[in-house]
Amino acid sequence: MKTSNFMALFDQVFGLSGRETELRLFFAPGRVNLIGEHTDYNGGHVLPCALSMGTYALVAPRTDSSCRIFSQNVPNVEPVKFLITHPWDQAETNWSRYPRAVLSILGERCLLPAHGLDVLYYGNLPGGAGLSSSASIEVLTGYAFGEVGHLNIDRVELALMCREAENNRVGVKCGIMDQFASSMGRKGQAILLNCDTLEHRYCKLDLPETSLVITNSNKPHTLSASSYNQRWRECETALAILRQKFEVSALCQISGHDFNISVGLIEDGVIRRRAKHVITENQRTLEASVLLENGDLEGFGQLMNASHVSMRDDFEISCREMDVLTELAWSVDGVYGSRMTGGGFGGCTVSLVRNDALEKFKKTVEQGYLSEVGYSPTFYITETSDGAGTIQVRNFNIGQ
Ligand code: GLA
Repeated sequence: MKTSNFMALFDQVFGLSGRETELRLFFAPGRVNLIGEHTDYNGGHVLPCALSMGTYALVAPRTDSSCRIFSQNVPNVEPVKFLITHPWDQAETNWSRYPRAVLSILGERCLLPAHGLDVLYYGNLPGGAGLSSSASIEVLTGYAFGEVGHLNIDRVELALMCREAENNRVGVKCGIMDQFASSMGRKGQAILLNCDTLEHRYCKLDLPETSLVITNSNKPHTLSASSYNQRWRECETALAILRQKFEVSALCQISGHDFNISVGLIEDGVIRRRAKHVITENQRTLEASVLLENGDLEGFGQLMNASHVSMRDDFEISCREMDVLTELAWSVDGVYGSRMTGGGFGGCTVSLVRNDALEKFKKTVEQGYLSEVGYSPTFYITETSDGAGTIQVRNFNIGQ
């Protein structure tokens, strides 16, 4: 959406006339994870990059302590209103629980402006596609309120607070990956993040003649409604059993070798497979980051494929649509690798495709998917961006 249209909508929703105010436009990206799935809440590694698609917010300060928030993506409803001193409402079920959850955590840390704000949100990430639209709303909210209030919030702290909001307010036991990528992303780079220590390094996405293609299955996934929290509990169970033998605080602190010689401790086959996925996925992610840095796209692609198989067979978070997409991608010459990305049970795949094979890839996947599943997927060539930021500041006066 053009900034001028965004401003016109702001005027329509909140009214600008009679106000002499500063309008600020902020952005926070979504993310695509290249490899390392369900490792984050198990103290392992992930390799996401921040996308140029994400959520925008146009923000104006108010003189009283009330906040009004409105999303262009949820039109035909009234703005949600609340006091900045009491942002959270347990009973809230609509989209506003994401920003309100973050404001509630910020409020506990005395990190809120002294006055209220009017905020207009607009997102261009496909909804329910597993590209972290909710994390981008969370990070955007914390960033925007922090900037308007001159609160100097550290970016890693911001990611941690947004995760806390999602865990303890929204009720999804997610890890830190999405919020970290949205806050700390860098254009042209992926982040290798150790989710245990938060140590991280940026890996240049130097992909000569090659693209990262996101394919949206158009089968929406819903994190909280899905079995995500169940997977989290199964991993906790596996950890509790393995702690009889190892002094660790997270599953990914156990090496592949130690796991192999101790796997017999876990009697339940399901729990055993869950732990196997997490521990092997962590190893794959570390190896993949080295291959990426060395420009070994063949090797990187093979690890992407192995990651998908592990999610499909051991962690059981794939679904027919995801398997159809990856198998079709694997069949195309010039595709280095392809895997489901994100929390699972729908959403998107990410594929590493040589540019001269792009057309063939799209055609094969589109036609095959349509005939197997009955509707079309959508393709996006990945464009990366920096983490949350200010896009524009403008003083608005009547008549301007
Ligand atoms: C979701 C969660 C993340 C992570 C992924 C799976 O995106 O929000 O924390 O667990 O699923 O890797």
